[in-house]
Amino acid sequence: MVHANDRIEVLLDAAAIQERVRALGERIEADYRGKALTVLGVLKGSVFFLADLLRHVQIPLRLDFLRASSYGNKTVSSGIVQLSAVEGAFEGRHVLIVDDILDSGRTLHTIRREIERLSPASVKTCVLVDKKVERAVELEADYRAFEIPNVFIVGYGLDYAEHYRNLPYIAVLSPGGAES
Ligand code: IMP
Ligand code: MG
Repeated sequence: MVHANDRIEVLLDAAAIQERVRALGERIEADYRGKALTVLGVLKGSVFFLADLLRHVQIPLRLDFLRASSYGNKTVSSGIVQLSAVEGAFEGRHVLIVDDILDSGRTLHTIRREIERLSPASVKTCVLVDKKVERAVELEADYRAFEIPNVFIVGYGLDYAEHYRNLPYIAVLSPGGAES
């Protein structure tokens, strides 16, 4: 499962993730009860988190997705965020954007701006992991499961050059620099 010369070290184990995700889901359920909720998942990194989270949000909701990419094959952001076409029901609805991780803030900022043009009732953001770094743009997550220092992590949806998304835990990666 670990590639080439990469080294990984577990940061958040599966049980800790499930416990925090459950608590976050219960909070979101309480906050959005009685509201027309559209959950907008950001592909691909959010899928493991989203699937677990929404099992604990037992109120009516719509689930839509869009795709965002900025990282390429490196552990530093390219700074350019590309979005797929945004499809879904947003007008007059309470939109909760769900992503894997908040780093520079560019991805969520870009998505948020797109959604705000579609006349939603409200827009909030939810991330599995909030990296404590200086943001490139002004944005803080409304909901977060974990806060971590500025390290590069993989697993539970998060990738390094498309590897490691299917790890059931989150680990700090030290890339070995070999081929992928
Ligand atoms: P931002 O646009 O800089 O906030 O970065 C958000 C995106 O960068 C996430 O959706 C991830 O795809 C990617 N990313 C940022 N930090 C990490 C990391 O530590 N591991 C894996 N992907 C990351
Ligand atoms: Mg990614």
